[in-house]
Amino acid sequence: MIKPDAVANGHIGAILNDIIAGGFKIVAMKYIKLSTEAASQFYAVHKERPFFNDLVSFMTSGPIVAAILEKENAVEDFRKLIGATNPAEAAEGTIRNKYAKSIDANAIHGSDSDENAEIEGNFFFSQFERF
Ligand code: CMP
Repeated sequence: MIKPDAVANGHIGAILNDIIAGGFKIVAMKYIKLSTEAASQFYAVHKERPFFNDLVSFMTSGPIVAAILEKENAVEDFRKLIGATNPAEAAEGTIRNKYAKSIDANAIHGSDSDENAEIEGNFFFSQFERF
């Protein structure tokens, strides 16, 4: 997901460019605004964390871009491309280093395992929306 801060700051195009230049194929993509219910469901794994309410509130503050990406070793390579969760710790040249402002407004989300990539892809896309 390209998060609301990166969308609002006009970074959709630059981020998609970085993703494509990184060798990822776009399998599915949509531009949507999450409801509170949808964001809570998407991030249900974090519901006991102290930042959960802020996270849901931020993720529903504006539109996002959701996408399914494909590449050999995609999960690990995408996490390298986006950098650490906290942009202050994200390596030079990573998407969060270039476009994120804070740990909450951190520009982009990537799945942390193949299993979660499957779950998160199914959350946003039907079989007719993948190419
Ligand atoms: P994301 O990869 O979307 O997964 C959960 C999000 O919670 C994370 O990116 C951060 O934007 C946000 N978050 C806020 N505080 C923390 C924290 N202390 N640890 C991890 N994630 C946090």
